[in-house]
Amino acid sequence: MEPAPKIQELELEGKKSLSRVVVGGSLRNTGEYLPEYQVIILTDENVYDLYAPDFPAFPVIVIKPGESVKTLATVEFIYTELVKCGADRSTFLLGIGGGVICDIAGFVASTFMRGIEFGFVSTTLLSQVDASVGGKNGVNLGNFKNLIGVFNQPSFVLCDYELFKTLPEREYISGLAEVIKYGLIREASLLELFASKTEDIRQRKEEVVHDLVWQSVNIKKEVVEKDEFEGGLRRILNFGHTFGHAIEKVHGLLHGEAVAYGMLVALYISGREANLDPVESERAKSLILASGLLRKIKPDKNQIIDVMKKDKKKSGEKIHFILIDTIGHAVEWETTPEKLENFFSDWLKQIDF
Ligand code: GLY
Repeated sequence: MEPAPKIQELELEGKKSLSRVVVGGSLRNTGEYLPEYQVIILTDENVYDLYAPDFPAFPVIVIKPGESVKTLATVEFIYTELVKCGADRSTFLLGIGGGVICDIAGFVASTFMRGIEFGFVSTTLLSQVDASVGGKNGVNLGNFKNLIGVFNQPSFVLCDYELFKTLPEREYISGLAEVIKYGLIREASLLELFASKTEDIRQRKEEVVHDLVWQSVNIKKEVVEKDEFEGGLRRILNFGHTFGHAIEKVHGLLHGEAVAYGMLVALYISGREANLDPVESERAKSLILASGLLRKIKPDKNQIIDVMKKDKKKSGEKIHFILIDTIGHAVEWETTPEKLENFFSDWLKQIDF
Protein backbone atom coordinates (compact mmCIF):
# COMPACT_ATOMS: atom_id res chain seq x y z
CA MET A 1 0.00 0.00 0.00
CA GLU A 2 1.21 3.53 -0.83
CA PRO A 3 2.13 5.50 2.30
CA ALA A 4 -0.42 8.20 3.13
CA PRO A 5 0.73 11.56 1.80
CA LYS A 6 2.29 13.88 4.36
CA ILE A 7 0.15 16.92 5.17
CA GLN A 8 1.55 19.99 6.90
CA GLU A 9 -0.36 23.11 7.71
CA LEU A 10 0.46 26.67 8.77
CA GLU A 11 -1.54 29.77 9.54
CA LEU A 12 -0.56 33.04 7.96
CA GLU A 13 -1.76 35.84 10.19
CA GLY A 14 -2.95 38.78 8.10
CA LYS A 15 -4.03 42.07 9.70
CA LYS A 16 -7.68 41.39 8.84
CA SER A 17 -7.84 37.61 8.73
CA LEU A 18 -6.03 34.31 9.04
CA SER A 19 -5.08 32.27 6.03
CA ARG A 20 -4.63 28.53 6.36
CA VAL A 21 -2.02 27.01 4.05
CA VAL A 22 -2.18 23.23 3.68
CA VAL A 23 0.77 21.55 1.97
CA GLY A 24 0.14 18.03 0.70
CA GLY A 25 -3.65 18.29 0.83
CA SER A 26 -5.71 16.81 -1.95
CA LEU A 27 -8.15 18.43 -4.35
CA ARG A 28 -10.43 15.45 -3.71
CA ASN A 29 -10.70 16.46 -0.05
CA THR A 30 -11.40 20.16 -0.63
CA GLY A 31 -14.87 19.72 0.93
CA GLU A 32 -13.21 19.49 4.37
CA TYR A 33 -12.07 23.11 4.09
CA LEU A 34 -15.22 24.63 2.63
CA PRO A 35 -17.98 26.34 4.57
CA GLU A 36 -21.50 24.92 4.80
CA TYR A 37 -23.05 27.64 2.66
CA GLN A 38 -23.06 28.25 -1.09
CA VAL A 39 -19.78 27.68 -2.93
CA ILE A 40 -18.98 28.64 -6.52
CA ILE A 41 -15.83 27.42 -8.27
CA LEU A 42 -13.66 29.41 -10.68
CA THR A 43 -11.22 27.47 -12.85
CA ASP A 44 -9.68 27.44 -16.32
CA GLU A 45 -10.33 25.12 -19.26
CA ASN A 46 -7.12 23.13 -18.79
CA VAL A 47 -7.71 22.37 -15.12
CA TYR A 48 -11.41 21.69 -15.77
CA ASP A 49 -10.67 19.19 -18.56
CA LEU A 50 -8.16 17.33 -16.41
CA TYR A 51 -9.72 17.42 -12.98
CA ALA A 52 -13.45 18.29 -13.06
CA PRO A 53 -14.42 14.83 -11.72
CA ASP A 54 -12.38 15.56 -8.57
CA PHE A 55 -14.00 18.97 -7.94
CA PRO A 56 -16.43 19.31 -5.06
CA ALA A 57 -20.03 19.33 -6.36
CA PHE A 58 -20.74 23.04 -6.86
CA PRO A 59 -21.43 25.30 -9.85
CA VAL A 60 -18.28 26.00 -11.90
CA ILE A 61 -17.31 29.10 -13.87
CA VAL A 62 -14.70 28.20 -16.48
CA ILE A 63 -12.45 30.76 -18.17
CA LYS A 64 -9.66 30.46 -20.74
CA PRO A 65 -6.16 29.72 -19.41
CA GLY A 66 -3.16 32.07 -19.50
CA GLU A 67 -1.96 35.50 -18.47
CA SER A 68 -3.85 37.21 -21.32
CA VAL A 69 -7.21 36.64 -19.53
CA LYS A 70 -6.06 38.49 -16.39
CA THR A 71 -8.11 41.54 -17.35
CA LEU A 72 -10.98 43.65 -16.06
CA ALA A 73 -13.11 42.25 -18.92
CA THR A 74 -12.69 38.75 -17.45
CA VAL A 75 -13.51 40.10 -13.99
CA GLU A 76 -16.73 41.62 -15.35
CA PHE A 77 -17.62 38.32 -17.04
CA ILE A 78 -17.16 36.48 -13.74
CA TYR A 79 -19.26 39.00 -11.78
CA THR A 80 -22.05 38.41 -14.30
CA GLU A 81 -21.74 34.64 -14.00
CA LEU A 82 -21.82 34.90 -10.21
CA VAL A 83 -25.06 36.86 -10.40
CA LYS A 84 -26.51 34.24 -12.77
CA CYS A 85 -25.57 31.52 -10.24
CA GLY A 86 -27.46 33.42 -7.55
CA ALA A 87 -24.36 34.45 -5.58
CA ASP A 88 -24.86 36.71 -2.59
CA ARG A 89 -22.73 38.05 0.24
CA SER A 90 -22.54 34.66 1.90
CA THR A 91 -21.19 32.89 -1.22
CA PHE A 92 -17.71 31.39 -1.01
CA LEU A 93 -15.56 31.58 -4.16
CA LEU A 94 -13.15 28.69 -4.64
CA GLY A 95 -10.38 29.22 -7.23
CA ILE A 96 -8.92 25.97 -8.56
CA GLY A 97 -5.87 26.62 -10.72
CA GLY A 98 -2.48 28.26 -10.99
CA GLY A 99 -1.35 31.83 -10.39
CA VAL A 100 -3.71 33.44 -12.91
CA ILE A 101 -6.83 31.77 -11.46
CA CYS A 102 -5.78 32.57 -7.89
CA ASP A 103 -5.05 36.23 -8.76
CA ILE A 104 -8.39 36.66 -10.52
CA ALA A 105 -10.47 34.68 -8.02
CA GLY A 106 -9.02 36.66 -5.10
CA PHE A 107 -9.71 39.96 -6.83
CA VAL A 108 -13.25 39.06 -7.87
CA ALA A 109 -14.08 37.78 -4.38
CA SER A 110 -12.57 40.84 -2.71
CA THR A 111 -14.70 43.23 -4.77
CA PHE A 112 -17.96 41.36 -5.50
CA MET A 113 -20.66 42.81 -3.21
CA ARG A 114 -17.85 44.56 -1.29
CA GLY A 115 -16.14 41.28 -0.56
CA ILE A 116 -17.02 37.64 -0.17
CA GLU A 117 -14.92 34.83 1.30
CA PHE A 118 -12.58 32.88 -0.92
CA GLY A 119 -9.98 30.12 -0.98
CA PHE A 120 -7.73 28.33 -3.44
CA VAL A 121 -6.71 24.89 -4.55
CA SER A 122 -3.36 25.83 -5.97
CA THR A 123 -2.40 23.54 -8.85
CA THR A 124 1.06 24.62 -10.08
CA LEU A 125 4.43 24.78 -8.37
CA LEU A 126 4.69 28.51 -9.12
CA SER A 127 1.36 29.32 -7.52
CA GLN A 128 1.92 27.05 -4.52
CA VAL A 129 5.25 28.60 -3.60
CA ASP A 130 4.32 32.19 -4.44
CA ALA A 131 1.20 33.51 -6.19
CA SER A 132 -1.52 31.83 -4.16
CA VAL A 133 0.02 32.60 -0.75
CA GLY A 134 0.21 36.03 0.86
CA GLY A 135 -2.95 37.82 -0.22
CA LYS A 136 -1.92 39.74 -3.34
CA ASN A 137 -4.83 39.56 -5.78
CA GLY A 138 -5.30 41.45 -9.00
CA VAL A 139 -5.36 41.78 -12.76
CA ASN A 140 -3.32 43.52 -15.43
CA LEU A 141 -4.25 46.81 -17.11
CA GLY A 142 -2.98 46.88 -20.69
CA ASN A 143 0.73 46.27 -20.46
CA PHE A 144 0.89 46.95 -16.75
CA LYS A 145 1.12 43.77 -14.73
CA ASN A 146 -1.02 43.53 -11.59
CA LEU A 147 -1.80 47.26 -11.70
CA ILE A 148 -5.35 46.74 -10.40
CA GLY A 149 -5.57 44.75 -7.19
CA VAL A 150 -6.01 44.38 -3.47
CA PHE A 151 -4.29 42.81 -0.50
CA ASN A 152 -6.70 40.30 1.00
CA GLN A 153 -5.92 36.88 2.46
CA PRO A 154 -7.68 33.74 1.19
CA SER A 155 -9.34 31.67 3.92
CA PHE A 156 -7.25 28.72 2.82
CA VAL A 157 -4.74 27.63 0.21
CA LEU A 158 -4.61 23.93 -0.50
CA CYS A 159 -1.34 22.91 -2.16
CA ASP A 160 -1.94 19.59 -3.91
CA TYR A 161 1.33 18.59 -5.54
CA GLU A 162 -0.14 15.32 -6.84
CA LEU A 163 -1.58 17.55 -9.55
CA PHE A 164 1.95 18.20 -10.82
CA LYS A 165 1.81 14.86 -12.61
CA THR A 166 -0.03 16.66 -15.41
CA LEU A 167 2.02 19.88 -15.18
CA PRO A 168 4.14 20.41 -18.34
CA GLU A 169 7.90 20.20 -17.70
CA ARG A 170 8.50 23.87 -18.59
CA GLU A 171 5.87 25.04 -16.11
CA TYR A 172 7.23 22.86 -13.34
CA ILE A 173 10.76 24.15 -13.89
CA SER A 174 9.43 27.71 -14.07
CA GLY A 175 8.14 27.30 -10.50
CA LEU A 176 11.62 26.36 -9.30
CA ALA A 177 12.79 29.94 -9.98
CA GLU A 178 10.72 31.26 -7.07
CA VAL A 179 12.12 28.56 -4.78
CA ILE A 180 15.68 29.51 -5.77
CA LYS A 181 14.71 33.12 -5.08
CA TYR A 182 13.74 32.26 -1.48
CA GLY A 183 17.07 30.52 -1.02
CA LEU A 184 18.98 33.54 -2.29
CA ILE A 185 17.09 36.18 -0.31
CA ARG A 186 16.24 34.43 2.94
CA GLU A 187 17.23 30.81 3.49
CA ALA A 188 20.55 29.55 2.13
CA SER A 189 19.77 25.97 3.21
CA LEU A 190 17.09 25.76 0.52
CA LEU A 191 19.90 25.98 -2.02
CA GLU A 192 21.76 23.12 -0.30
CA LEU A 193 18.60 21.07 -0.80
CA PHE A 194 18.65 22.04 -4.46
CA ALA A 195 22.26 21.04 -4.89
CA SER A 196 21.94 17.72 -3.04
CA LYS A 197 18.59 16.60 -4.51
CA THR A 198 18.85 17.84 -8.09
CA GLU A 199 17.75 14.53 -9.61
CA ASP A 200 14.85 13.98 -7.18
CA ILE A 201 13.65 17.52 -7.88
CA ARG A 202 13.87 16.90 -11.62
CA GLN A 203 11.84 13.72 -11.20
CA ARG A 204 9.31 15.52 -8.96
CA LYS A 205 9.77 13.02 -6.13
CA GLU A 206 6.96 13.66 -3.69
CA GLU A 207 9.11 13.98 -0.57
CA VAL A 208 11.43 16.61 -1.96
CA VAL A 209 8.62 18.52 -3.68
CA HIS A 210 6.81 18.61 -0.36
CA ASP A 211 9.91 20.06 1.33
CA LEU A 212 10.39 22.70 -1.37
CA VAL A 213 6.77 23.87 -1.11
CA TRP A 214 6.68 23.68 2.68
CA GLN A 215 9.90 25.65 3.15
CA SER A 216 8.87 28.22 0.55
CA VAL A 217 5.46 28.92 2.10
CA ASN A 218 7.06 29.21 5.53
CA ILE A 219 9.48 31.85 4.25
CA LYS A 220 6.63 33.67 2.56
CA LYS A 221 4.55 33.53 5.75
CA GLU A 222 7.39 34.99 7.79
CA VAL A 223 7.94 37.88 5.36
CA VAL A 224 4.25 38.64 4.75
CA GLU A 225 3.36 38.63 8.45
CA LYS A 226 6.02 41.27 9.03
CA ASP A 227 4.96 43.45 6.11
CA GLU A 228 1.66 42.38 4.59
CA PHE A 229 1.11 45.56 2.56
CA GLU A 230 4.64 45.82 1.12
CA GLY A 231 5.83 48.96 2.84
CA GLY A 232 9.36 47.57 3.18
CA LEU A 233 10.50 44.03 3.87
CA ARG A 234 8.06 42.32 1.49
CA ARG A 235 9.86 44.02 -1.39
CA ILE A 236 12.62 41.42 -1.03
CA LEU A 237 10.19 38.98 -2.68
CA ASN A 238 10.65 41.05 -5.84
CA PHE A 239 14.27 39.91 -6.19
CA GLY A 240 14.86 39.28 -9.91
CA HIS A 241 11.45 40.67 -10.86
CA THR A 242 12.34 44.20 -12.07
CA PHE A 243 14.13 42.84 -15.14
CA GLY A 244 12.20 39.56 -14.92
CA HIS A 245 8.86 41.22 -15.70
CA ALA A 246 10.36 43.14 -18.62
CA ILE A 247 12.05 40.02 -20.05
CA GLU A 248 8.83 38.02 -19.60
CA LYS A 249 6.96 40.60 -21.63
CA VAL A 250 9.53 41.18 -24.37
CA HIS A 251 10.55 37.56 -24.94
CA GLY A 252 7.29 35.83 -24.07
CA LEU A 253 8.94 33.57 -21.49
CA LEU A 254 7.19 31.88 -18.59
CA HIS A 255 7.32 33.92 -15.39
CA GLY A 256 9.95 31.81 -13.63
CA GLU A 257 12.14 31.59 -16.74
CA ALA A 258 12.19 35.37 -17.00
CA VAL A 259 12.77 35.77 -13.26
CA ALA A 260 15.82 33.48 -13.61
CA TYR A 261 17.34 35.99 -16.05
CA GLY A 262 16.28 38.83 -13.74
CA MET A 263 18.05 37.11 -10.83
CA LEU A 264 21.24 36.80 -12.89
CA VAL A 265 21.15 40.55 -13.55
CA ALA A 266 20.46 41.21 -9.86
CA LEU A 267 23.39 38.97 -8.86
CA TYR A 268 25.67 40.91 -11.19
CA ILE A 269 24.57 44.23 -9.67
CA SER A 270 24.82 42.72 -6.16
CA GLY A 271 28.54 42.18 -6.80
CA ARG A 272 28.96 45.88 -7.57
CA GLU A 273 26.54 47.58 -5.18
CA ALA A 274 26.22 45.15 -2.25
CA ASN A 275 29.68 43.57 -2.09
CA LEU A 276 28.41 40.11 -2.91
CA ASP A 277 31.43 37.81 -2.84
CA PRO A 278 32.30 36.65 -6.41
CA VAL A 279 32.52 33.02 -5.22
CA GLU A 280 28.98 33.18 -3.82
CA SER A 281 27.79 34.92 -6.94
CA GLU A 282 29.28 32.16 -9.12
CA ARG A 283 27.66 29.51 -6.91
CA ALA A 284 24.25 31.14 -7.28
CA LYS A 285 24.75 31.59 -11.00
CA SER A 286 25.73 27.92 -11.49
CA LEU A 287 22.61 26.81 -9.65
CA ILE A 288 20.40 28.91 -11.91
CA LEU A 289 22.22 27.66 -15.01
CA ALA A 290 21.85 24.03 -13.88
CA SER A 291 18.14 24.39 -13.10
CA GLY A 292 17.06 24.29 -16.75
CA LEU A 293 15.34 27.67 -16.41
CA LEU A 294 17.21 29.55 -19.12
CA ARG A 295 15.65 29.44 -22.58
CA LYS A 296 18.72 30.63 -24.48
CA ILE A 297 17.23 33.91 -25.63
CA LYS A 298 19.32 36.80 -26.86
CA PRO A 299 18.06 39.54 -24.54
CA ASP A 300 16.80 42.52 -26.54
CA LYS A 301 18.40 45.34 -24.62
CA ASN A 302 16.41 48.28 -25.99
CA GLN A 303 13.02 46.69 -25.63
CA ILE A 304 13.76 45.33 -22.16
CA ILE A 305 14.99 48.69 -20.93
CA ASP A 306 11.99 50.39 -22.48
CA VAL A 307 9.49 48.07 -20.75
CA MET A 308 11.40 48.21 -17.46
CA LYS A 309 11.36 52.03 -17.50
CA LYS A 310 7.66 52.24 -18.40
CA ASP A 311 6.83 49.71 -15.73
CA LYS A 312 8.72 51.71 -13.12
CA LYS A 313 7.45 55.11 -14.25
CA LYS A 314 3.86 54.16 -13.46
CA SER A 315 4.59 54.08 -9.74
CA GLY A 316 6.23 57.53 -9.92
CA GLU A 317 8.65 56.67 -7.19
CA LYS A 318 12.30 55.73 -6.86
CA ILE A 319 13.13 52.15 -7.70
CA HIS A 320 13.59 49.88 -4.70
CA PHE A 321 15.83 47.32 -6.34
CA ILE A 322 16.56 44.16 -4.39
CA LEU A 323 20.11 42.84 -4.13
CA ILE A 324 21.77 40.22 -1.95
CA ASP A 325 24.91 40.90 0.05
CA THR A 326 25.38 37.22 0.84
CA ILE A 327 23.47 34.10 -0.11
CA GLY A 328 20.38 34.06 2.08
CA HIS A 329 20.32 37.78 2.82
CA ALA A 330 18.61 40.47 0.74
CA VAL A 331 19.16 44.22 0.91
CA GLU A 332 17.25 47.05 -0.67
CA TRP A 333 19.06 49.49 -2.97
CA GLU A 334 17.37 52.71 -3.96
CA THR A 335 18.25 53.54 -7.52
CA THR A 336 17.15 55.12 -10.81
CA PRO A 337 16.15 53.59 -14.17
CA GLU A 338 19.27 55.15 -15.72
CA LYS A 339 21.63 53.39 -13.30
CA LEU A 340 19.82 50.12 -13.92
CA GLU A 341 20.12 50.64 -17.65
CA ASN A 342 23.90 51.05 -17.36
CA PHE A 343 24.25 47.94 -15.24
CA PHE A 344 22.06 45.98 -17.63
CA SER A 345 24.29 47.01 -20.58
CA ASP A 346 27.40 45.96 -18.64
CA TRP A 347 25.79 42.65 -17.69
CA LEU A 348 24.89 41.91 -21.31
CA LYS A 349 28.52 42.49 -22.39
CA GLN A 350 29.84 39.84 -20.04
CA ILE A 351 27.29 37.01 -20.26
CA ASP A 352 28.88 33.76 -21.35
CA PHE A 353 25.94 31.37 -21.68
N1 GLY B 1 4.93 37.66 -5.33
C1 GLY B 1 5.50 38.58 -4.45
C2 GLY B 1 4.65 38.87 -3.26
O1 GLY B 1 3.71 38.16 -2.99
O2 GLY B 1 4.90 39.83 -2.57
